Amino acid sequence: MLNFLIFWFFFSIFVLLVTIFMIFMEMYMLSENIEKALNDQLNREFFSSYYYLSMAAYFLSQNLKGFSHWMRIQAQEETIHALKIYDFIDDRDGEIDLNAMDTPPKAWDTPLDVFQDALKHEQKISNHIYELADLSLQEKDHATNTFLQWFIAEQVEEEATAKEMIDTLKLIGNDGSGLFLLDRDLVQRTLLASEADADPAGDM
Ligand code: FEO
Repeated sequence: MLNFLIFWFFFSIFVLLVTIFMIFMEMYMLSENIEKALNDQLNREFFSSYYYLSMAAYFLSQNLKGFSHWMRIQAQEETIHALKIYDFIDDRDGEIDLNAMDTPPKAWDTPLDVFQDALKHEQKISNHIYELADLSLQEKDHATNTFLQWFIAEQVEEEATAKEMIDTLKLIGNDGSGLFLLDRDLVQRTLLASEADADPAGDM
């Protein structure tokens, strides 16, 4: 009888520990919906990088090296955004799912057209981030929601920067010397420390 009680005691402790572990893992791991939504956003951020690199190549073809440099930095920032999501999925024991990239557009008529497309693209990205944040709240995934706050703030900045470039290019209009001076200024853009800090390996 004593042996049975000892067995029952240890068995109950075992079952209790397994249950606590399972509850903990369920809270810690990503749900299927959130994992998929994060992977979709991860792929969008990589596409953004590809898109801006194509804009950089267009500016090179127009001999606007400052504009090209600016877009190349933008492409680097997008890769860092993608890697932030990549690391977060891994930290939460999720599975990373990389997809094939669409071919980005290659040609635009004017620098203004390029930045108008960049703004439209950023507005779409912002909407996707908001949908992802809504989903994290629905699923009570507070870790993902907190993680997404950085992206929400970043999108405000990204849209404002694109709008600022559009306003400047509208002011310049057809003035070739204005475009030349802006191109000279844009070459000074560097990767912001706040973005570089977001790169876990510090090698962007
Ligand atoms: Fe990472 Fe420009 O969105």
